[in-house]
Amino acid sequence: MSKRQAIISPSLLSANFLHLEDDVRLINESEADWLHIDVMDGVFVPNISFGFPILEAIRPLIKKPLDVHLMIVEPMKFVRELAALGVDTMNVHYEVSPHLHRSIGAIKDAGMKAAVTLNPHTPVELTDVLDELDMVLLMSVNPGFGGQKFIPRTIDKVRRLRQMIDERGLSTLIEVDGGVNAKTGADLVAAGADVLVAGSYVFSHEDPKAAIHSLKELTRL
Ligand code: DX5
Ligand code: ZN
Repeated sequence: MSKRQAIISPSLLSANFLHLEDDVRLINESEADWLHIDVMDGVFVPNISFGFPILEAIRPLIKKPLDVHLMIVEPMKFVRELAALGVDTMNVHYEVSPHLHRSIGAIKDAGMKAAVTLNPHTPVELTDVLDELDMVLLMSVNPGFGGQKFIPRTIDKVRRLRQMIDERGLSTLIEVDGGVNAKTGADLVAAGADVLVAGSYVFSHEDPKAAIHSLKELTRL
């Protein structure tokens, strides 16, 4: 069987906000596959990042598909705005989605890929919607901040989800976000993760493109 390279989605949250243009260009020129955008509301998570005015300003510069992670209590309010920005994948949290099946349909109807994000405590058994989803995003830290320590139990969650996806012959991607570096990234990909989000590992690295390359080299069967 051929080996699959990990899909790498650097998180803009750890970029230098005084020089966002430089950091977006750096991602454009790198081997990164996507750009991960963390939107927070100070309610669902104890932090606020950035919103539409900033995204609209940097949008024309971005050459990679946008992977938008909404850490907000009412993500479905913004489907139209995100679609208008040309977002590729819209991630909504399971914990704020009382009608997840309906939300998945609405995201797809708006022309985006639908992903659900699970907090570290949320069980991974999404048996009844798994076949509708383009991606499941597993949080490997409690969402809200960059630079936190990886929660090792995530590896087992990735394995269990990989097994469910493979047993059903689905193409749903598994993305992991939080505390990803060359070591945790290797463990995650070996467990069956397809997509790695990395914020501080990339932007705190003396050579961010080399950090992206080190993740891009990870492969799974
Ligand atoms: C955290 C965000 C992450 C964050 C990851 O709530 O969802 O995307 O940027 O940062 P690192 O890679 O530094 O853990
Ligand atoms: Zn994120």
